[in-house]
Amino acid sequence: RGKRAFIAGVADDHGYGWAIAKSLAAAGAEILVGTWVPALNIFESSLRRGKFDESRKLSDGSLMEITKVYPLDAVYDNPEDVPEDVKSNKRYLGSSNWTVKEVVDSVKQDFGSIDILVHSLANGPEVTKPLLETSRYGYLAAISASSYSYVSLLKHFAPIINPGGASISLTYIASERIIPGYGGGMSSAKAALESDTRVLAFEAGRKHNVRVNTISAGPLRSRAAKAIGFIDMMIDYSSENAPLQKELSAEEVGNAAAFLSSPLASAITGTVLYVDNGLNAMGVGV
Ligand code: NAI
Repeated sequence: RGKRAFIAGVADDHGYGWAIAKSLAAAGAEILVGTWVPALNIFESSLRRGKFDESRKLSDGSLMEITKVYPLDAVYDNPEDVPEDVKSNKRYLGSSNWTVKEVVDSVKQDFGSIDILVHSLANGPEVTKPLLETSRYGYLAAISASSYSYVSLLKHFAPIINPGGASISLTYIASERIIPGYGGGMSSAKAALESDTRVLAFEAGRKHNVRVNTISAGPLRSRAAKAIGFIDMMIDYSSENAPLQKELSAEEVGNAAAFLSSPLASAITGTVLYVDNGLNAMGVGV
């Protein structure tokens, strides 16, 4: 039987989530995605209208199939957590069952189980502010959307991840080195995500025989990265300074994710894998 993957954080064809979906599809996996509720309509209608057909192409010429798109807002665990203003927001009214618990219940009902969970989402409302100017609200919102969202997804999915399964998230080196401009508590959120990767690897490994790893990815011009404002500078910096002087493609991260979630990586868990043209290994700019 082929593997089934749920990828949280796909709303267009520019980000890492999309590229990971493609690499997993190319390896034979069935693809389910979780799409942020406010982005759902445009994503689904673009899919339907064929806007992504060019980027759905796999190397064998076939098109990636997305079996089902689930609306998801990973900052809410169950319906009781959703505040009135969000419930009544017109971008949310048209969808239902989009809290983490409800999404997992729906996947269980539709498919019974999954083999691979991918968390490719982050959000920090004050990401453009230095940490020294970040509010408590902004900091906690960054942690909620970018770190706890992963704890919650894995917690709810783990009971329906088949033994031997794998879970992957995306992190950024700003967790461990100073990257001016990656603010609003997003550096803190990535540090939490990496630490949680180790603890969750232990807990999910022992309890569910599921491996937990994170990919520390180099810079990609995704929608989220453009919102931060310094992505072109980071891409230039990387191609000037990294050991491998080429632009990182999302596909390279997708392929690393496919490796990590395959039996080829059956003894790898609790790790941060750099997929960044080696930039992390440099001590100084050159
Ligand atoms: P992206 O814009 O393709 O993905 C972020 C996704 O998160 C979007 O689809 C957005 O709709 C979704 N999202 C935001 N809040 C959500 C919520 N509450 N519930 C559900 N979905 C929500 O951008 P990108 O850059 O591909 O991001 C994917 C991951 O890669 C993130 O964790 C990011 O921090 C990480 N990353 C990105 C790098 C880059 O240079 N683009 C570098 C290193 C890591």
